[in-house]
Amino acid sequence: MSVNEQTLIKAAWMARERAYAPYSKFKVGAALENAIGQVFTGCNVEIANYGCTVCAERTAILKAVSEGSLRPGELRKMVVVTETSRPTAPCGSCRQVIEEFANEETEILIVTQLDKVSMRFKHSELLPHAFNAKQIEIL
Ligand code: THU
Repeated sequence: MSVNEQTLIKAAWMARERAYAPYSKFKVGAALENAIGQVFTGCNVEIANYGCTVCAERTAILKAVSEGSLRPGELRKMVVVTETSRPTAPCGSCRQVIEEFANEETEILIVTQLDKVSMRFKHSELLPHAFNAKQIEIL
């Protein structure tokens, strides 16, 4: 089973509506598809000290993991939506968290206008030569 891409994009826009971004006012929505076509969404959640802020992508991943629905290698696709003229690619910390659950096929879709994919990457393009579990296992 796999989820329709437009459905995933719509889910990300709906999640963006729930963004809690009183400091930056920069609202981000994310939606991921796991290995069996289930969808989990996330929004950014900002905290007054700024440093505890969690990005939309990580919110979605942590929700899926904590519901028992995402394990390493099971992330098929991640959609990130912002209402901006320039596409918003995941930050470095999110790329590292995505790495933990990605596989060689994992795709990252960046959307800035309703239903329109501005950029499409393989996760491995966004984080080449990543540090991951493989390095730790050789210790
Ligand atoms: N943010 C995300 O949620 N995802 C990204 O990919 C980039 C940045 C959030 C963090 C913060 O709440 C706001 O956007 C401004 O940086």
